[in-house]
Amino acid sequence: MDDIIRRDHWDDRYRTIGPTNVSWYESEPRLSLAMLELGGLDRHRSVIDLGGGASSLSARLVARGNHDVTVLDVSAEALRITRSSIDDPDAVTFIEADVTEWSPTRTWDLWHDRAVFHFLTGEDQRDNYRAALRRGLAPGGVVCLATFAADGPESCSGLPVRRYRPEELLAELGTAMDEIASGRYLHTTPSGGVQPFSWVVARRRG
Ligand SMILES: C[S@@+](CC[C@H](N)C(=O)[O-])C[C@H]1O[C@@H](n2cnc3c(N)ncnc32)[C@H](O)[C@@H]1O
Repeated sequence: MDDIIRRDHWDDRYRTIGPTNVSWYESEPRLSLAMLELGGLDRHRSVIDLGGGASSLSARLVARGNHDVTVLDVSAEALRITRSSIDDPDAVTFIEADVTEWSPTRTWDLWHDRAVFHFLTGEDQRDNYRAALRRGLAPGGVVCLATFAADGPESCSGLPVRRYRPEELLAELGTAMDEIASGRYLHTTPSGGVQPFSWVVARRRG
């Protein structure tokens, strides 16, 4: 899938299905906040939400007093929805980009990704993601990563995904990471389906 097709796919999903009806919607970003708290979230920590979409996570972080919050997504429509949902949208930096082609120009303390990495089915895409992670995560920073579990759905939003056990996620991140915690999470979709996720929280050495 090339860039324009990928962007159009996601813009279309948010427009036609709507941000609260998409399968990954949750009214409270429970897993996301739990992972970030395990990673030492406090209001002084900078946070980037990779593929944050229309998630309420950035609004929750701003409401908690976090003043250095970034949301990156390939979908301009998702970013527009998120911007319009935050009382003080200037408190958040929005980056419209494909994470597999993005080169960060700064670092963050916490790197959060819920349900984006599993779309990277090609080794080259995952290599590029890891390169972005190496540039964008501060030494001693923490990555919070959640994907469909090994027994989770084989596709998401009509696209094929790669599924993981928690220990496989840690291995994907590379050798310079130490696990803080990992586990399994059951997400209930707006239509009542249950999707098993694997997640890992890990600290970068250095
Ligand atoms: C399944 S949704 C998850 C959204 C959000 N993380 C959440 O938990 O609600 C996947 C999101 O990743 C974005 N996305 C997919 N592929 C991407 C890529 N290569 N680069 C950046 N964003 C991407 C989509 O636009 C979408 O918003």
